[in-house]
Amino acid sequence: MRRFDGKLALITAASRGIGFAIAERLVAEGARVVITARKEEPLRAAAARLGDAAEWVAGRADDPEHRAEVFSRIRERHAGLDLLVNNVGINPVYGPVLEVDPAAARKILEVNVVGALEWTRDAVAAGLAERQGSIVNVSSIAGTGPSPGIAFYGVSKAALINLTQQLASELAPAVRVNAVAPAIIKTDFAKALYDGREAEVAAQFPLGRLGVPADVAGPVAFLLSDDAAWITGRTIVIDGGGSLRPIG
Ligand SMILES: NC(=O)c1ccc[n+]([C@@H]2O[C@H](COP(=O)([O-])OP(=O)(O)OC[C@H]3O[C@@H](n4cnc5c(N)ncnc54)[C@H](OP(=O)(O)O)[C@@H]3O)[C@@H](O)[C@H]2O)c1
Repeated sequence: MRRFDGKLALITAASRGIGFAIAERLVAEGARVVITARKEEPLRAAAARLGDAAEWVAGRADDPEHRAEVFSRIRERHAGLDLLVNNVGINPVYGPVLEVDPAAARKILEVNVVGALEWTRDAVAAGLAERQGSIVNVSSIAGTGPSPGIAFYGVSKAALINLTQQLASELAPAVRVNAVAPAIIKTDFAKALYDGREAEVAAQFPLGRLGVPADVAGPVAFLLSDDAAWITGRTIVIDGGGSLRPIG
C-alpha cells in the first residue's frame, strides 16, 4: 500500500520547481493531483509528464474566480479533497524593508499569506475535515529571521509560519497543518541568488551543496502522510545545515 493511494491532492504553483517535485512525489506514492499555475502551456506539459493521475487548472493563485474554478472541478469529478499544498509564493521586490513600495508589499501579502488562507478555507469547504485531511504551507528560511535583500518576502513567509500555527490550532483534530522552510533550492525563483557563483554559495551550507526540489518534496510528503499523524502546527527547516551556527 502506497502512502497516498486513493487520496486527492491540490498543489498550487506546480508547473515547475518545488511544486512540480511535490506533485511528482505524491503521484509516485499513489495520489491523484490537481496542479495550478498561471501559464497554460507549461502547466499542461507538466500535467502530461505526471501522467493520468494529474489534472490542471490555469490561473493566478490570488484570483477568486480561478480558485472557484478549481474547487468546482474538484466537486464535479471527485468525492472530496484530502491534501492541500499552499506552494505559491512571489517575491517581486528586492531591498531593505523600509524601501518597499506599499503596493508591492500588499501584493506579496495577498498572494503569499491571504492566498494560503483562502485556499485553505475553500479546501475545508471541499471536505478536507471530513476526510481527515492534511495541509502543508511552503514558507521559507527567510521567514525565520532577518533576510537582507528579500526582506518583505521574509515578512510574508514569517506570517505564513504563524498562519500555519493558527490554522493547526483551529482545525485540530480533523486537519493537520504544517509548513516547510527551505533555504536556497535550485529553481528559476532562486536563480539570482546563486547564478554564476554556485560553489561559493554552496560553501555556506554544511552539507556542501544547494538544495534541489526533491529535497523539499520528501519532507512535504512526510508531513502530508500518516507518518506525521501526531505532528501539527510545526515548520520543518530544510537548509542543508545552514542554520547551524557555532556559539561564541
Ligand atoms: N527556490 C527557493 O530557493 C525557495 C526557498 C524557499 C521557499 N521557496 C518557496 O517555494 C515556492 C515555490 O517556488 P519555486 O522555487 O519552486 O519557484 P519556481 O521554480 O519559479 O516555480 C514557481 C511556480 O509558481 C507558479 N506561479 C508563480 N506565480 C504564480 C501565481 N501568482 N499564481 C499561480 N502560480 C504562480 C509558476 O508558474 P507560472 O509562472 O506559469 O505562474 C511556477 O509553476 C514559493 O512559495 C517560494 O517562496 C523557494
